Amino acid sequence: MKKILLIGASSFIGQSMVPRLGQDRIVATFHSTAIDDGVFFDPLEMDLADLPADLSGFSHAVLLYAMTSPAACHADAALSKRVNVKSAIRIIDGLADRGITPVFLSTEAVFDGKTGSYTEEDTPNPLFTYARQKYEVERYLNGLGKPALIARLARVYGSQAGDGTLFTDILHHLTRNQPIRCAGDQVFSPIHVEDAADALILLMEAGQTGTFHIGGPSAISKCEAVHMTVNRYTSLGGDYTADITACRLAEFDLAEPRPLNISLSVEKLRQTVDIGLQGPEEQCREIVERHFSALAKAKDG
Ligand SMILES: NC(=O)c1ccc[n+]([C@@H]2O[C@H](COP(=O)([O-])OP(=O)(O)OC[C@H]3O[C@@H](n4cnc5c(N)ncnc54)[C@H](OP(=O)(O)O)[C@@H]3O)[C@@H](O)[C@H]2O)c1
Repeated sequence: MKKILLIGASSFIGQSMVPRLGQDRIVATFHSTAIDDGVFFDPLEMDLADLPADLSGFSHAVLLYAMTSPAACHADAALSKRVNVKSAIRIIDGLADRGITPVFLSTEAVFDGKTGSYTEEDTPNPLFTYARQKYEVERYLNGLGKPALIARLARVYGSQAGDGTLFTDILHHLTRNQPIRCAGDQVFSPIHVEDAADALILLMEAGQTGTFHIGGPSAISKCEAVHMTVNRYTSLGGDYTADITACRLAEFDLAEPRPLNISLSVEKLRQTVDIGLQGPEEQCREIVERHFSALAKAKDG
């Protein structure tokens, strides 16, 4: 593997990849969120030729940038199509011309959620705008006849307070004693952002192409994630008395339908690279414990 272009390194996942790869091996771009040693790149208006880098030494380019909010993609379908599909295809074409392998970050949500435990052999059937856009680029890559890596990511979460991901977001509600409404029928295989970054890098280092599912080792429902966090929080002395209401995903006020069980099988990933995927239970425990250690440290002054 030569150098790697990270387009949208300012993203949550990009920020985990940067330190793992090291500045010497990458060119990291941002759009509106400036990052250390990053270069400005606007995928809508600029070409790869506009980058201040000689791309001849690059083996891969990871397309991290996207409009990632499903609600925003639906609300401005024209803009999200430009960002998520048209510019991605234009960049993919530019990479193909230069012999650089595109690494496209797709989503578990390309499936319709009727069965769960999806393998790479299962046929996608996306139900909403963002997922349809991701699948459109997947199909383009599959028809291109050039090497490409399609990484279908499950829900990615982190451990940093305030990062607004799965467990840290639940913890945010607990510390404010806010009620939580969660969908018991929404099932996914969340993966820690460090594992997701490792998986992407290992697949690139192994020269893999084709489609891979990148998810955590087990499937859980949103309500299970909530109860897991509450149990840990209260067992460590946290006081949480607000209501937790389990409901159906369809009861949330969503503009588009969402798939229910989008859990992924990660067998292909495990058989291809040597990766230890951290389970949600273990990560949830660490996140809550870290919260209480930070509180204790702050108290000690
Ligand atoms: N996080 C997940 O759970 C998850 C799951 C499945 C797939 N994915 C995919 O993985 C990739 C990274 O996800 P993430 O959650 O880490 O992303 P994120 O934190 O939401 O960041 C989005 C990135 O896209 C860039 N971006 C957004 N709108 C843009 C525009 N109009 N023009 C140029 N750049 C724009 C942002 O750049 P600036 O901030 O610099 O403007 C930022 O780098 C995305 O392709 C996403 O679809 C993520």
